[in-house]
Amino acid sequence: MSDAFDLIVIGSGPGGYVCAIRAAQLGLKVACVEKRETLGGTCLNIGCIPSKALLQSSENFHEAAHSFADHGILIDSVKLDLERMMARKLEVVQANTKGVEFLFRKNKVTWLKGEGKILGAGRVSVSGTEYATKSIVIATGSESTPLPGVAVDETRIVTSTGALELSAVPKHMVVIGAGVIGLELGSVWSRLGAEVTVIEFLDRIVPTLDADVAKDFQRILEKQGLSFKLGSKVTKAETTDKGVTLTVEPAKGGEATTLDADIVLLAIGRRVFVDGLGLADAGVALDERGRVATDAHFATNVPGIFAIGDVRVGPMLAHKAEDEGMAVAEILAGQAGHVNYDAIPSVIYTWPEVSAVGKTEAELKSAGVAYTIGKFPFSANGRARAIGMTDGYVKILAEKTSDRLLGAQIIGADAGGLIAELVTAIEFGASSEDVARICHAHPTLSEAVKEAALAVEGRAIHI
Ligand code: FAD
Ligand code: NAI
Repeated sequence: MSDAFDLIVIGSGPGGYVCAIRAAQLGLKVACVEKRETLGGTCLNIGCIPSKALLQSSENFHEAAHSFADHGILIDSVKLDLERMMARKLEVVQANTKGVEFLFRKNKVTWLKGEGKILGAGRVSVSGTEYATKSIVIATGSESTPLPGVAVDETRIVTSTGALELSAVPKHMVVIGAGVIGLELGSVWSRLGAEVTVIEFLDRIVPTLDADVAKDFQRILEKQGLSFKLGSKVTKAETTDKGVTLTVEPAKGGEATTLDADIVLLAIGRRVFVDGLGLADAGVALDERGRVATDAHFATNVPGIFAIGDVRVGPMLAHKAEDEGMAVAEILAGQAGHVNYDAIPSVIYTWPEVSAVGKTEAELKSAGVAYTIGKFPFSANGRARAIGMTDGYVKILAEKTSDRLLGAQIIGADAGGLIAELVTAIEFGASSEDVARICHAHPTLSEAVKEAALAVEGRAIHI
């Protein structure tokens, strides 16, 4: 038996590394097991960070090619250096993963390099060496969900990982799944010059958004050149030297057609990753959807073993994983860690961005909650006009009788930043009236949030 720890965290993604650092801050002796060459998990290595680097670079390219002239800036020709774009993405990733390594050293968290396996409560092996620990936190994250008949090779048929590494701009990219990954990475390659077709099983895009917001979002993306085949399913993919031929059928059944692509991006969701972790032998139970079953305090059925992040119930988001990491570390240190699942924002980093927090209209309807809507378009916001980003609006849902804020969705420039105000308001149990009475700087996009709050009672000023 090697060193003994108070806590061993398995997985160094946003859940795992934040948990390890917080527990160390609280005085625990902590190790974090990571089998990847670098820390930071899916998010920093092959997820949030590289995708946002490419979204920014591709947006800059698109702006230079298509929008600068509007501002009176004339450039003779805009050329793409994809190799440099990818190199920059790598630099951004490395700065972040090295940053986590630095934070581990600073907080005296031991990085146990290798594959972790749970041998039972209080016992973890890492590539053959056994360690004793009072508690174990499982934070092993998720992986792309496969689709029968569509074999991923990460060259022609790629997951998000391959789509972040393409060495040339595809002529025609077909994306399977009109969710967050499909639309973000579809946007990247569309802006860089690819024709992008998105195939979606349902008859709408992004099922987690309100139907009207999703429809408006789709219209904006179509204006940008993306095309959609809704209510369709891919049943087969045949790869040749030249590309991929997909067989596509109506989701409800019917005649099959074929579609040729040079790159196919499979993005139909992510599933829990617990391979090789030894959960069955350790007696750790999974829930009906294969996630690690936990109670409200992140505890599994085996005393001393906890789980956080993508492996357990809830949205597969980095900040949800981080907050659960903080909470479980605080619980293990004898404090009262807590996450408010009614106030977790989500952001799609397309341009414009789309953000959401709290309940959707569909959720409120099915719960029988009466609500009012306040909506304000960016086309009536002075700053949005000045920066030439007038697509979209702020939509606020408030409880009809109490006026308490229940949810919000925003399409627009910096929707991801703007949602923070409404997350705070929901966290503090604020009403739309509270938001409407807060002084917002002029001219800023945030005035649209105030105006949407005013619009709940029909008293927006600028519309
Ligand atoms: P992960 O980040 O998946 O980390 C798990 C780690 O555990 C991995 O490093 C893995 O190597 C390691 N591991 C697994 N098993 C073992 C083992 N047995 N031994 C040792 N190590 C092990 N979320 C957002 O909030 N915002 C975004 O913008 C965003 N963009 C995304 C873009 C893409 C392309 C993808 C794929 C995801 C994105 N996400 C985003 C989701 C986000 O990445 C995840 O929700 C988040 O990473 C989950 O964190 P986690 O700590 O649960 O697990
Ligand atoms: P997703 O769940 O967001 O979207 C998957 C889409 O595929 C859905 O619209 C679904 O109806 C559709 N679909 C399912 N099966 C299908 C099939 N057989 N054929 C066609 N369409 C099908 O999943 P996605 O985009 O893969 O992303 C996974 C997760 O990663 C996200 O849910 C999110 O949690 C996280 N993520 C978050 C990001 C962010 O916060 N900005 C960015 C990228 C990923």
